[in-house]
Amino acid sequence: MNDMTPTSAERAEKLEGMGCKRKRVEDIRFVQGKGNYVDDLKIPGMLYGDIVRSPHGHARIKKIDTAKAAAVPGVVAVLTADVLKTVNLAWMPTLAGDMQMVLADGKVLYQNQEVAFVVAESREAAADGVELVEVEYEQLPVNVDPMKAMTDGAPTIREDLKDKTDGAHGKRKHYNHIFSWAAGDKAATDAAFAKADVTIKEFIVYPRVHPCPLETCQCVASFDKIKGELTLWGTFQAPHVIRTVGSLISKIPEHKIHVIAPDIGGGFGNKVGAYSGYICAIVASIVTGRPVKWVEDRIENLSTTAFARDFHMEMEIAATKDGKVTAMRCYTIADHGAFDACANATKWPAGLFSIVSGSYDFPAAYCLVDGVYTNKAPGGVAYRCSFRVTEAAYCIERAMDIMAQKLGMDPAEFRLKNLIRREQFPYTSAFGWQYDSGDYHTAMNKAMESVNYKKLREEQKQKRDAFKRGETRELMGIGVAFFTEIVGAGPSRACDILGIAMFDSAEIRIHPTGTGICRLGTKSQGQGHETTYAQIIATELGLPADNIMVEEGNTDTAPYGLGTYGSRSTPVSGAATAMACRKIKAKAQMIAAYMLEVHDDDLEWDVDRFRVKGNPERFKTMTELAWAAYHEVPPGMEPGLEAINYYDPPNFTFPFGAYICVVDIDVDTGTTKVRRFYALDDCGTRINPMIIEGQIHGGLTEAFGIAMGQEIHYDDDGNVTTASFMDYFLPTAVETPHWETDWTTTPSPHHPIGAKGVGESPNVGGVPCFSNAVNDAFAFLGSTHIQMPHDHWRTWTAAEKLGLHG
Ligand code: CDP
Repeated sequence: MNDMTPTSAERAEKLEGMGCKRKRVEDIRFVQGKGNYVDDLKIPGMLYGDIVRSPHGHARIKKIDTAKAAAVPGVVAVLTADVLKTVNLAWMPTLAGDMQMVLADGKVLYQNQEVAFVVAESREAAADGVELVEVEYEQLPVNVDPMKAMTDGAPTIREDLKDKTDGAHGKRKHYNHIFSWAAGDKAATDAAFAKADVTIKEFIVYPRVHPCPLETCQCVASFDKIKGELTLWGTFQAPHVIRTVGSLISKIPEHKIHVIAPDIGGGFGNKVGAYSGYICAIVASIVTGRPVKWVEDRIENLSTTAFARDFHMEMEIAATKDGKVTAMRCYTIADHGAFDACANATKWPAGLFSIVSGSYDFPAAYCLVDGVYTNKAPGGVAYRCSFRVTEAAYCIERAMDIMAQKLGMDPAEFRLKNLIRREQFPYTSAFGWQYDSGDYHTAMNKAMESVNYKKLREEQKQKRDAFKRGETRELMGIGVAFFTEIVGAGPSRACDILGIAMFDSAEIRIHPTGTGICRLGTKSQGQGHETTYAQIIATELGLPADNIMVEEGNTDTAPYGLGTYGSRSTPVSGAATAMACRKIKAKAQMIAAYMLEVHDDDLEWDVDRFRVKGNPERFKTMTELAWAAYHEVPPGMEPGLEAINYYDPPNFTFPFGAYICVVDIDVDTGTTKVRRFYALDDCGTRINPMIIEGQIHGGLTEAFGIAMGQEIHYDDDGNVTTASFMDYFLPTAVETPHWETDWTTTPSPHHPIGAKGVGESPNVGGVPCFSNAVNDAFAFLGSTHIQMPHDHWRTWTAAEKLGLHG
């Protein structure tokens, strides 16, 4: 080796593998406006679909007259439920085991529900046709309040189910009841409460919000009558699931369905499920023999495609006098709207909500969730969260603050006293989850030191004294939140969708020149998968990340996968990628041994090559081995260098984080300024620190939107009053605070590269942190819990209720 020979470290750096802040390769096309989204697709002869929607929250349909619409120049067809019935598609199964109307059949159950589908030569003609479809409605009583859904005399939402005593998840106790789901040990929990020194009980509401990706839901369906094949381009977070469900619903054989998800402009859970627009576009293409495009507008997206949250939680904690938690109990009413179209794994009607004991060592815990029908849009998706984990984190983190207040303890000190200790991992929670790894105290202490927590509390004390003396009208709030996520759905013993186990996959082909392609069953919606999967391969195989192309979203070429949501890509497909690499590497090692005329065991791996142990001058690089794989393999070995891995994770991964926020509130206007937001995340091994930081910024911005202003609100008549960005708060760069990010690294012991997910974490931890900050500002005045969202009006109202306006 001469001085010019690069060292192992220099060679490793050149690969841009794991740990490198590699620039996002996909941005080259995005920043030049060269992305390829569904609405960019133009096919000769393509038609356009538009939807007639219900103006009422609940009404019987007496008559639909499509004659005038059909006569509009350019209108080719008008679909109604009666037309769909001829192909048995008036109703479709949901992921949650319910059935959902594709187009209104007999009545409408929520405002803006799909009633008819107009297909025309142009978007404009379709819109004109929509205006002329005449629907005669008879209004029915409306209920949009989940707390009233199971009362006597509440309007019957689902007449089709009213006499059914069994649902998809067991017994139903009322005609508007969907399911009851419980976890934990009720007897042990009740016993702990019976002998508790101190208890708290609070009704905590996580309002209905919407993921609102900037690109709405859309598709192009093209049915080839000659071949009997359907090609469906669409905004799909889980393309293979859409193919399988599409085949089951339409009876088109699955191998004759080609699903393609091109570039996607944000998903956040909104693009997991199947919507009426997709089914109508497919039927319209079959009926007309031409490709049909359907593109949702903003109002349609906000008011009809999958909402998130709407959890109404009665939370209790028991503790000793000196602040050790002994039990938690939570009863929740979950508002699922008019159809149960929740995107959860089959066994989990309330998602992974039983992570609600959070990061604390609760000896006993119990939760019970009742799902109910109301006159609201269906959905219940994991909006930048892993299946109800955000609701759970908000609930426990608010409750911990309320208990600290009752005990007269500092909320951070109270948490430190109850956090699961490092030596307790792997830790089995009272709900039975096995948390894989964690070092919570290190994270919490680092966060407190970084913001100088002690000094902030001193400043707050002075401000509070000044407020009491009438010298200021400003209150300072310090929010603390510590969260544990459960991501990477999931182990097949725990998770499936419609009976398909929630594994994921990667197929890697290394070409003779040492470049390659990796195809996956996941689908990026902006998370940078093209960049980061290549980094895993670079480190595992010693080939530059730039030499690896990553392709997702084509069901004809990608191995079967369950898609991207709930931060499952890195924990599941990231693992599949590493495991596929290891198969390739094992073959390369045999080829190297053959070429170097040594035994396999005499070789050792060094960054990008196999070298002979004790004789490092004799080596074969991965690039050389790729070439050899196509012309010089040992006798009897198959040529080529490729592998596929389907990874069924042994457990979820449990990322965690400590967040601290400082707000200043003007009590006379309710104006709340976020002075500081510090977020420490631990997602195990970090693949790309720059992308992680971007994920945290994005997720915190969404958390800020949710905590400080978002709500999909319905009035008592069932009108959705927040269906546009005029009324629904979407933070822009102007409102968004400055984010300070930090990390610790505690690898997952069961993941091949030790990585946990990260994309959802900031939304999970951010919301309670903001809410705790606002609540903390008022706590010294006797306030225990102010409901989200903390917009200026509600904050002003909270101050008014406390008598702060004189
Ligand atoms: O499933 P989804 O892609 O939404 O979430 P994720 O698995 O948490 O990954 C989001 C992005 O962060 C991906 O580009 C990951 O590769 C990256 N990431 C990372 O660099 N290191 C981690 N430990 C986890 C995620």
